[in-house]
Amino acid sequence: MGRILVTRRLPDGGLGPLAGHTLVDPKPDDAPFTHDELCDIAPQCDAIVCLLTDRIDAAVLRAGAAGSLRVVANVAVGYDNVDVATAHECGITVCNTPGVLDETTADLAFALILAASRLAGDAERDLRAGRWPGWGITQYLGRDVHGATLGIVGYGRIGRAVARRAAGFDMRVLHHARHDTGVDGYVADLDTLLAESDIVTLHVPGGADTHHLVDERRLGLMKPTAVLVNTARGPVVDEAALAAALHDGRIFAAGLDVFEHEPLVHPDLLTAPRTVLLPHLGSASDATRRRMATMATSAVATVLSGGTPPNVIAPGPEPYDPRS
Ligand code: DGY
Repeated sequence: MGRILVTRRLPDGGLGPLAGHTLVDPKPDDAPFTHDELCDIAPQCDAIVCLLTDRIDAAVLRAGAAGSLRVVANVAVGYDNVDVATAHECGITVCNTPGVLDETTADLAFALILAASRLAGDAERDLRAGRWPGWGITQYLGRDVHGATLGIVGYGRIGRAVARRAAGFDMRVLHHARHDTGVDGYVADLDTLLAESDIVTLHVPGGADTHHLVDERRLGLMKPTAVLVNTARGPVVDEAALAAALHDGRIFAAGLDVFEHEPLVHPDLLTAPRTVLLPHLGSASDATRRRMATMATSAVATVLSGGTPPNVIAPGPEPYDPRS
């Protein structure tokens, strides 16, 4: 039986697979552990179950490896908060939660596609603030989603789940991934996809490879009528450049669920027109968050009993494959 740090409160049932193990006392009021605290506690643990808001960097991992740390399970599919290369160097297994949140996240991406294209954010803000004078034929003129060309950047499980939804809206679907997917609509050149799409939705992982993948130059390639949706990771988009493009009307609208410096949001995005902003809730359905928690804690239980769970992040030079 092991000693396990679960950094934050998990959804109901999430701790079930850890029955019989010893859990490190949580912080009062579900406060996050500081980085220094993580470094102090890591060597006394066999496992850490963490969230994407915990920075599990080389310092935490090396401290843990000097003690008994064997496994880190991130309750998220993305793992840009974990230094996986150092974990592998230290012989620490890293797990994530692939496969259980694809449909829920795709639902939210589609919600943002619809809300941003149809100016739901501006319209709702006006209504709540008493600025709606009554129905008007020239008010809130958005862009149609049905029949539009959707450009999906990153054609992994979530990207493909968005493509399935787009079929129901009679959209023409293009997608870009690092490697030819062999699927109709594949566009090898990201710039071409950006220039051709009416709506662009991002589904690549975070990390150094995708940092500012959509920067000022690429925003400039998009149609002035285009809509950009990001439910992937904030740093994939240069927020300052996006905010400027929205303010200047160089792109039509944006729907964002993730931000470069969460929980901070670039002040120019907060004031940007035709923008829908959500607080990183892509996977936030009750059922999905429970599945994510159980998947992470089951992985820890499996590793501590000498097994290999299916959701181990393999070592390798490529931090991600957008098709996976
Ligand atoms: C993830 O899992 O990576 C999401 O961002 C949170 O569900």
